[in-house]
Amino acid sequence: MESSGTLEKPKLVALISGSGSNLQAIIDQVGNGTIDAEISLVISNNPDAKGLQRASAAGIATAVIDHNDYDSRTSFDRELMRHIDAEQPQLIILAGFMRILTPDFTNHYAGRMLNIHPSLLPEFKGVDTHARAIAASASQHGASVHFVTSELDGGPLVIQAIVKIQNDDTASALAARVLQQEHIIYPIAIKWFCEGRLSLDNNLVRLDKQPLPVQGIAHQAAT
Ligand code: GAR
Repeated sequence: MESSGTLEKPKLVALISGSGSNLQAIIDQVGNGTIDAEISLVISNNPDAKGLQRASAAGIATAVIDHNDYDSRTSFDRELMRHIDAEQPQLIILAGFMRILTPDFTNHYAGRMLNIHPSLLPEFKGVDTHARAIAASASQHGASVHFVTSELDGGPLVIQAIVKIQNDDTASALAARVLQQEHIIYPIAIKWFCEGRLSLDNNLVRLDKQPLPVQGIAHQAAT
């Protein structure tokens, strides 16, 4: 007998501002079945974001909510929430989304919103992380996936990719090597979440029910 219903895949909504190469890595892994989920909507605050074209090319619905059209962070975030909640997603993915979010927004999605940041958090929160890591003579840099809380780039860590800094490194060369690693670790974290293996419980990240160390899982880049 044919089954009358099929199990629904977890729904994801992605927020972007720019190139969307992380989004592309996620689209690819959803497309090839590695991540068993559906990306139902991609929202950009920037009408010119290349990531919008990547989403459309993959047949994913897009929306532009331009922050310039809103007179406050609160009104912008409310409009974002309206669009996101209409999809009833299990997970919200910030993929190069370059807006500071209000606590009302982050609290609303507590435990179901992930971000990727190009540094080994808690080092180098904010922008220009690669140049700042080189200027600080750090020996290593990288990227972090974390649950989003009201503290900017401060939420509990899930997984970090560690990238060595070379003697003659430039910010752009380092950024490119870090980005390659971002494309590896972000899909891993999203896959874990979609499989029900990853959760946030009282500010503690759990993978397969086990609490993770505060720095999350370490992923060492091959180069
Ligand atoms: C990525 O490096 C991501 O980590 C960073 O923006 C870039 C987006 O690239 N995000 C942040 O700095 C957030 N604080 P992409 O659009 O090609 O994915």
